Amino acid sequence: MNILYLDEVNSTNSYSKEHILEIEDKTVICAFKQTAGRGRFSRVWVDLGCDNLFVSIVLKPSNDFREVYSNLTQYTALKLAETFEKYDVLPIIKWPNDILINDKKISGILAETVVKNNELKGIIIGIGINLNADAKNFNKIDKPVTSLNLENGEFIDKQKFLDIFLNLFFCDYESFLKKGFISIKNNYKKYVNFLGKSITINNINETIVGIAERITDKGAIIINGKEYYTGDIV
Ligand code: BTN
Repeated sequence: MNILYLDEVNSTNSYSKEHILEIEDKTVICAFKQTAGRGRFSRVWVDLGCDNLFVSIVLKPSNDFREVYSNLTQYTALKLAETFEKYDVLPIIKWPNDILINDKKISGILAETVVKNNELKGIIIGIGINLNADAKNFNKIDKPVTSLNLENGEFIDKQKFLDIFLNLFFCDYESFLKKGFISIKNNYKKYVNFLGKSITINNINETIVGIAERITDKGAIIINGKEYYTGDIV
C-alpha cells in the first residue's frame, strides 16, 4: 500500500479516475483540501477543513473477485466503524455504508468504477471522515452531521486515525476478496440498528417501506421478502 498526499484537489475520486492508469493497486490518495467533493446520488461533500479526511483508495482486484466488488463499500464501512470504536464512541452503520454517531452522520463512502473498452480499470472507494470540525460550519449541510472531536471532546490526530483505519482495511482485504460478505456478516451486523424495524429506503426510482427482515450472505437487505442492494435509508 502507498499513500499519495495532495495539497488541494477538486475531488480525490475525480483525481483517481483521471489518473487511474498510472495509479497502482492499493494506492491511497489523501487531500488536505477538496474544492468539489462529491457524495452519493450527485450530492456535494462539504469540505469542513484540513483537519478532516478526504481519501480515495484505488483498488485493482482481479476479475475472479467481481462478485465481491459491490460489497467493498460495506467492508469499508465495517473497517471505519472498527476504527471509530477505538475512540470511545458508538458507531452505527447506516446501511449500506454511512457511519453515524448519536444519529448524526460522521462519514460517507462513494464508490466508483472506471471502465474502459469494457474492461474494469479500477475501483475507487472515496471516503469522507469528519474528524475535527467546528459545529458552526454544519449549517452548510442539510442533514444532521457530527465530527469525532465533538463526540469525544478531543482534537483528533488525523494521521493516526488514517493509519489505524488503513491497517485494519488492508489486514483483511485479501481474505475478504476471496471469501466475500459472508466473512464479515456477523461483525457488520454488530453495527447496524435497523433489523426488525420498519424502515424506508429511497432508491433512484422507487421508495420501499417495510420491516428490515435480515441481511443476506451477499449483503442485501430483505424487505417485504425482496432483496435490495442499493438505496438510502431515510
Ligand atoms: C456520501 O456520503 O454521499 C459519500 C461521501 C464521500 C465523500 C468522499 S471525500 C473523498 C472522496 N472524494 C470525493 O469527491 N468524495 C469522496
